[in-house]
Amino acid sequence: MAAAIVDAEYLKEIEKARRDLRALISSKNCAPIMLRLAWHDAGTYDATTKTGGPDGSIRNEVEYKHAANSGLTIAIDLCEEIKARHPKITYADLYQLAGVVAVEVTGGPTVDFVPGRKDSSSSPEEGRLPDAKQGPPHLRDVFYRMGLADKDMVALSGGHTLGRAHPDRSGFDGPWTKEPLKFDNSYFVELIKEDSEGLLKLPTDRALVEDSQFRPYVELYAKDGEAFFIDYAESHKKLSELGFTPPSSCFKLAVKNSTVLAQGAVGVAVAAAVVILSYFYEVSRRLNAENIKVKHPAITYPDLYQLAGVVALEMLGGPKIEFVPRRKDSPISPDEGCLRDGKQGASDLRDVFHRVGISDDKDIVALTGGLKLARRADSEKSGKTLKNSHVYFPK
Ligand code: HEM
Repeated sequence: MAAAIVDAEYLKEIEKARRDLRALISSKNCAPIMLRLAWHDAGTYDATTKTGGPDGSIRNEVEYKHAANSGLTIAIDLCEEIKARHPKITYADLYQLAGVVAVEVTGGPTVDFVPGRKDSSSSPEEGRLPDAKQGPPHLRDVFYRMGLADKDMVALSGGHTLGRAHPDRSGFDGPWTKEPLKFDNSYFVELIKEDSEGLLKLPTDRALVEDSQFRPYVELYAKDGEAFFIDYAESHKKLSELGFTPPSSCFKLAVKNSTVLAQGAVGVAVAAAVVILSYFYEVSRRLNAENIKVKHPAITYPDLYQLAGVVALEMLGGPKIEFVPRRKDSPISPDEGCLRDGKQGASDLRDVFHRVGISDDKDIVALTGGLKLARRADSEKSGKTLKNSHVYFPK
């Protein structure tokens, strides 16, 4: 099939799809299966014959029916929602982008994503993905065939920090970690323990501690989460680019491509926080901002609250907002009534925004778009999910 033409328009679509994926994955808690989809599309690569790999072929019936892919139609169908909105993007790019976003929204490292993969309508034969019941020689056969090394194998197995096994899909049962929706090094922390009650260890997971060449990586990653993130991001990028040569037209996405809300990021972030306060209240109730403060005591409360607002927007498919830290905590609270009264009109709205230093009507209208998020609490009660987009503004 034809290669994607990676021009400015394609890159824009990729950025939009990335935001849609963030919203979809956060709202449906489907990061684990999206990551598994990306891995299973890519993990069929054979470096000798140059066949298989991240080419979208897992969408072909003959391939998604392979026993190893049991359950993955859930992820394929979810991706169809994004494909319908961004038809230009190839399946191959879409599945790999979904994997990258899944890692990112669950707190994992940022994996560099280069678009331009071709779709393939032919699928590799069954049996190229690893068999969870086997040991180190089999794992090496499979990963070396892809052109990957021992370190990649161990780092990538850390993908099992997310998700769980399902008896009706693989015959195995349970999660590998206590928080299967959080991407961190806990897979290795649990793996190295003799006894991790209630948690899963596949024979291929055990192989990583039993083999003398794999084990040093497991020990390193269990001890040093940052080393894991660095190696994982590198190996994930390799996996997502097996057999793929980025088209020459493809240039690295410039930071300026991602919409920065406004030049005066600090002032605007303060106002944005005001506007999305009620949404953030809901988020913080669930995520419990105090837990984050306990883990990162050096961060001031105002930095933490503003960062949470920025992350909340991003997770729900909104734009990336530059975040500048170093706000000071204050023991003094303002008088009641500083925040906008929803029942008042335009002049009151202007008064409030002018007071915080935002005098341009354009900024006021743009920031009010955050109200869409403020309605999330209601929509969640009614069972509907929300993503941040332009739909707050009537046509
Ligand atoms: C090393 C060889 C590997 C084997 C033998 C293996 C095997 C398995 C098995 C048996 C499951 C359970 C499927 C189910 O019942 O739903 C699973 C799930 C999963 N695998 Fe792997 N895997 C391997 C490597 C990887 C890699 C490299 C990644 C990603 C980088 C990955 C990511 C995942 C994720 C995220 C899930 C959870 C899916 C869910 O919760 O629905 N795996 N894997």
